Amino acid sequence: MSTRTDARAQLDLPGQAAMAHGPHDLGGMYVMHYAFRRDLGRFASAVRRTPLEDTAAWRSLAARWERFGTTLHHHHTIEDTTIWPLLLAHVDAAVDAAGRATLEAMEAEHELIDPLLDSCATGFTAMAFAPDAAARDRLAERVTAARDRLGEHLAHEETEALPLAQRHLTTAEWAAAERAAQSGHGLREMPFLLPWAAHGLSDEQVSAAFGEGGRAFGVLLRLTRGRFERAERAAFRYA
Ligand SMILES: [Fe+2]
Repeated sequence: MSTRTDARAQLDLPGQAAMAHGPHDLGGMYVMHYAFRRDLGRFASAVRRTPLEDTAAWRSLAARWERFGTTLHHHHTIEDTTIWPLLLAHVDAAVDAAGRATLEAMEAEHELIDPLLDSCATGFTAMAFAPDAAARDRLAERVTAARDRLGEHLAHEETEALPLAQRHLTTAEWAAAERAAQSGHGLREMPFLLPWAAHGLSDEQVSAAFGEGGRAFGVLLRLTRGRFERAERAAFRYA
């Protein structure tokens, strides 16, 4: 096992529980976590505040939840199939029992979150097509639970699992994990994903997070932002 002391600057975004220092730039991971936290906070508020009779807003929210759910599911799938198994092999080779327990917890926490997300999706669909106060209250409870459970999981990942990635993964392994994370998204999703990732961040944070993507990212963001922001206003108009 190699020991690395070269640390690079890491992003520190609102809500983030910790920065894991080390050789890998975790900016992509931190931006995704920020966006998941931000979205769940806004969904929790929107569900409580959106009037039952505003069908258009509920339909926008249901469609937006589907995109959120797909993006989070992809994020967890890449971690469970690519990052955690690779890291587990390193941790076991180092006979690190606490590291193994952390990685097992990551998968177990994903499994607890998935059914909550599914039940939120069912609730949003119900509100889009047959809104009523009882269904809204049930959905509010589920979205709040999803927000809290995911928040705890992300904090656990940031404080315990990502430091393991910094300690054990080689540059080539981390680069391969990042490629896997990006490859599952089709080009068709980019007009949503780019402005989604950047939403709520300052220009400085955006360039720190996507600096290596450079100019192309900035151009794509300018092209896609307006449409995304309009759709956001439609979905979260009461949030
Ligand atoms: Fe993550």
